[in-house]
Amino acid sequence: MRLDVFTLFPHWFEWFETQRHVRNAVAAGSELRFLDLRRTSPLNAGQVDDSPYGGGAGMVMRVDVIDAALQAAYGEQRSGRRIVLLTPSGRLFDEELASELAAEPELTLICGRYEGVDERVRDHLVTDSVSIGRYVLAGGELAAMVVADAVLRKLPGALGHSESALEESFSSVLGGDPEYPHYTRPPTYRGWGIPEVLVSGDHERVREWRRARSRERGGRPEPEA
Ligand code: 6GU
Repeated sequence: MRLDVFTLFPHWFEWFETQRHVRNAVAAGSELRFLDLRRTSPLNAGQVDDSPYGGGAGMVMRVDVIDAALQAAYGEQRSGRRIVLLTPSGRLFDEELASELAAEPELTLICGRYEGVDERVRDHLVTDSVSIGRYVLAGGELAAMVVADAVLRKLPGALGHSESALEESFSSVLGGDPEYPHYTRPPTYRGWGIPEVLVSGDHERVREWRRARSRERGGRPEPEA
């Protein structure tokens, strides 16, 4: 995957790039770029925002600034590329959307800031608007990291063990339910034990127990036998 993130704070992503699964994805052939929206601004002194038409508090990110950044990176050849604006009013991000985006050969994330982004960006420049939850962050950077994290770990070679992603939360193997509870040594700690079935050696019972716990967490308790 070729993943580009447009942001006013590219250096925020330096930490992001150091994560094991992100480095693995890059080692396996993915390309990551963090592009500074100010660098390609057509305005003086790297201006990127302006006061809102109609008045009101706060500043709005300009459509010409975002267009210039996309132009510099891709020219007019943007068809086929999935271009996602991170905004609190976008489609709610979930595991299904993560899988959908992970299947894209080319993905672009644009981080909004200030009070908002000129609506013409949404109407004419991007293919998707995505939110990571019903709360407002100061900018789209953390949201872009959440999206990039969830997407990159789905790429081949991102996780150490290929099975780690198979039975994890919300995967189809678990019927879209959250993951079952995990336990490891010690078997008792401060009097807190572990479920006996996990040390029974009965793999079928372990499987059943895990599926039942997974369903409970997904709000779909096992029908009484
Ligand atoms: Cl994508 N951006 C901002 N600024 N706030 C958010 C968000 C995005 N998703 C949830 N809150």
